[in-house]
Amino acid sequence: MAIERTLSIIKPDATARNITGKIIDRLESAGLGVIAQKRTRWTKEAAETFYAVHRERPFFNDLVAFMTSGPIVLQVLEGEDAVAKNREVMGATNPSEAAPGTIRADFAEDIERNSVHGSDSAENAKQEIALCFSADEIVG
Ligand code: RTP
Ligand code: MG
Repeated sequence: MAIERTLSIIKPDATARNITGKIIDRLESAGLGVIAQKRTRWTKEAAETFYAVHRERPFFNDLVAFMTSGPIVLQVLEGEDAVAKNREVMGATNPSEAAPGTIRADFAEDIERNSVHGSDSAENAKQEIALCFSADEIVG
């Protein structure tokens, strides 16, 4: 296993409930280090660019509306096998299918308001990190 980086987002449903600290605790306890972090609110354009891969999906407009509905916390996580590890700690997209003890099982409200995003491959992680952070914002 190699040391990897992945992009994490704490979504608006989680910032609204003031549980960013609880989520960060889950990530750090799993061995994922937070090496970049910022709170922001996406414009429609920023959300559409980030989720461009989902443009043709039926949930795209709802997803963009949700992701721009409030503050988010963008993070770069670093650790052994970070992409897969983060996905494991997050749990399945639909919280009703997420394994017990995962972030989504414990905190997500529904399949859309599911508290966190995590890159799904090392290649996408690189692209998403470059889209969200400049090199000097990442301190490993
Ligand atoms: P993410 O990209 O946010 O880490 O989530 P994921 O890989 O588990 O799920 P993905 O298929 O990439 O979907 C991206 C996000 O779109 C919302 N979604 N809504 N209403 C629906 O059926 C539906 N399906 C997906 C979720 O917020 C999901 O995380
Ligand atoms: Mg995804």
